[in-house]
Parts: sequence; structure tokens; C-alpha cells
Amino acid sequence: MDKLVIEGGKPLSGTIVIQGAKNAALPILAASLLADGTTTLDHVPDLLDIDVMLNILRELGCRAEHTGGTVVLDTETAHISHVPESLMRQMRSSIFLMGPLLARFGETQVYQPGGCAIGERKIDLHLEGLQALGAEIEELGNRIICRADKLRGADIHLSFPSVGATENIMMAAALAEGRTTISNAAREPEIQDLQGFLNAMGAKIMGAGTDTITIDGVQSLTPCRYKVIPDRIVAGTVMVAAAATRGQVTLQNTQPAHLSSLIHVLRRAGVQIVVDGDIIKVGSATRPRAVERIVTSPYPAFPTDLQSQVMVLLALADGVSVLKETIFEGRLKHVDELSRMGADIRVDMNAAFIRGVPRLYGATVEATDLRAGAALVIAGLAAQGKTVVEQIHHIDRGYEKIETMLARLGARISRYSPVPNN
Ligand code: UD1
Repeated sequence: MDKLVIEGGKPLSGTIVIQGAKNAALPILAASLLADGTTTLDHVPDLLDIDVMLNILRELGCRAEHTGGTVVLDTETAHISHVPESLMRQMRSSIFLMGPLLARFGETQVYQPGGCAIGERKIDLHLEGLQALGAEIEELGNRIICRADKLRGADIHLSFPSVGATENIMMAAALAEGRTTISNAAREPEIQDLQGFLNAMGAKIMGAGTDTITIDGVQSLTPCRYKVIPDRIVAGTVMVAAAATRGQVTLQNTQPAHLSSLIHVLRRAGVQIVVDGDIIKVGSATRPRAVERIVTSPYPAFPTDLQSQVMVLLALADGVSVLKETIFEGRLKHVDELSRMGADIRVDMNAAFIRGVPRLYGATVEATDLRAGAALVIAGLAAQGKTVVEQIHHIDRGYEKIETMLARLGARISRYSPVPNN
């Protein structure tokens, strides 16, 4: 297994261009199945999760190439509607394929993606939504068979604004007969990007970004060329890393409006932030201030995907901060690892009470999930001495060559791959 070795204590400095958004690209790739022919997607990041999605699409019969950030995907030859269990297990986001496969083939078979490191991650809202559109769903063990001769528009109220369920329903409803309304829909920017893509293919969808999305079904969709939005979580990770190392970093290709809640928190912590068009400048020369209370909630509130990274900054702050995780129950596992680096954090239920310390110290730590892994990298960059981050395949799921990106900003970070035994 690869690992990252970091010599900490060097402020980050310089300019970087932010990669395309993983969480926008994944549903958009799945949605490409709704049109027959060749779709071209620009600014698709080069990541493990994207590789898995492209492999699944190839298994289904598509032809896919990913070079220089552009994916060329020909769906004309797609003829299989069953997602193999082995591939389904590799990535929870494969659940996005249910809606498009059902709409395209009238049936699909997928597998329960199962729990994962950050919590249970149910799919009941996905299934209820597709049932409301007329699908018959049969669950045989962990196998899910979904059939619908015809999908029909419906009024669907989500009991929780699930990002994935909103996206799955949007994709299936795009080709359903009549109007679908999703209320209490998720409002994340990635949902607006999916609407943008589907509409570029000829769909009639309105309201993404608000809590009510209206989809007027159309007979067919046409392939198109589309550019994926910048990754707000990668941008946020770099912003926190700049602040935690007391550096000065300029981020290009961002959408600052997508990062409002983080910008607000960082400013409360005393970090200097200047926004100019799609550029964000982050600078910090002094010890951060504690932030009394941060609660993760659906967009536009503070994102769960930046909780672990911000915890590192607060672990170094002057004073006591409280960070409450409300989206995923298992998402405080990085606390044990940060404690090994000298952080003073107590967890009570889903809240972390963080008493800031003047410095963290290098240690050997393990990434337990994608964002926890990113947090440990930030901790290593800010810490005194050497940090080794293990299990970094989690980090590779969402960050394009993280060591190259950070080394460009002056970080002393290298990847070590085990030498194979003959
Ligand atoms: C997406 C993001 C992920 C992010 C999350 C929350 C992608 C590929 N991933 O995940 O990075 O952390 O949004 O912003 O876009 N839930 C149910 N039933 C369901 C679906 C969800 O109870 O059918 C619950 C989940 O268990 C969880 C919460 O709703 O507690 C949020 O999940 P959801 O918004 O669906 O997240 P994902 O789409 O899986």
C-alpha cells in the first residue's frame, strides 16, 4: 500500500488551479447513459472513483476514454443493465446508475452498496423515489431488481434532502412521462451541475439549487459536450491547509459562492480571505482563533466533507471549539489519529470538543476515509517533524495526485510505493 511522508512545518505558498468536482462528475457520467451516442465531458478529475465509474460503464457496454481531463463516452453500444457486484462494492456512488439504467432499459439489477467507514449510508430514499415513478422493486438479499415498463412523473417529497436520491430521481424522471416534482430536494452545487448537464442534453428541469425541483419528462435526450464545475471540497481542503500552515495561497478556478460557509468559518478563525471572481486568496500569519460552534448540515450550511479538515485548524487554535457532525454518524474517526499527533479533542456522541494546542507533532497515522485522510495530510503539513499517512488509497479516491498538488505549493511531501517482491 502506498503511503505519504510529510516533513511538516513549512507554510504553503503559491498558486494552484482547482480540479473538476468528483461529486459532480460521477452523477454526470451516469446520466450520460440517458442519451445514445458520444458525450464529451471536460474537466473530469483523474481519480480512483472516476476510474471505477468508467470501468462500470465499460462493463455495461460503453466505450470510454479519459485523457487530459476530458472523457469521451460512447453509450450507443451499452446493452447490459446489471451492475456487477464486485464493481458496485468498490464505490458507493455506483448507486447513481440505478435511475439512468432503469430509464434506458426499463429494468436494472444492482447491489446494496453496504455501509462504509463513515456510517450506514442507507438507500431507502433512492428506492422510494424510483417506486413513486412507477418502478417495481424486489430485494433479494443484497441484490436489488428494479423494473418499470414506463416511468411516470410523480410528486416526491424527500424526508431528508439526500444528494444521491435527488440526483437518482432527477435522472430517472428526465425521461419519464409527465411532470415530476421533488420537494425537500438537496440544494448542493453538484445538483445544479447535473441539471445543467441534463438540460444541455435536452431535458426540461428547473429549480436545482432550491428545495423544489421540477422535471418535465421528454421523449429522448441527445449527447452533448459539457464542462464539470470546480471541486469545492478540494478547494476547501487547500484553503484550510494554507491557514493551518500559516501560508499564503491563491486558488484559481473556484466558485467562491459554493464555499460561503467555509469562508465564513475561516474568517471567524482570523484567516484572511480575498475573493476576486473565480480566484480565492487565503493567508494567515498568526495562530487561528477558536470557533465556538460549527454544525455540519446539508448545503448551504457547513459541509460534512470539510468537517475533518477544519478540525485540524481548530486543533491548533487559541481556545475551545465545538464541531458537531449531523450527516454521517461514523465521521469522527480521525479524532484518534489527530490525538496521536498531540491534538486535545474529546468526543461526546456526534460532537467533538476541541481544545487548541500550540503545535501538533509528526506521527504515523492511518487514513480511515477520504476526507479524514485529507485532514491527516493537513495535520502533517502543519506539524513539527515527520508524519507518515498510511492507507492513502482513500485519499486517491477524491484528490488528483495530492502530493504533486501540495509540493507545487512548497510542501515537503512524497509518496512511497512498496517495492514488489519477486
Ligand atoms: C453525497 C456526496 C458525499 C457527501 C454527501 C453529503 C457524492 C458522490 N457524495 O453523498 O461526498 O458527504 O453527499 O453532503 O456526491 N440517507 C438515507 N437514505 C437514503 C440516502 C441517504 O437515510 O436513501 C442518509 C445517509 O445515510 C446520510 C444522509 O442521508 O446520513 C446524507 O446522505 P446523502 O445526502 O444521500 O449523501 P450521498 O449522496 O451518499
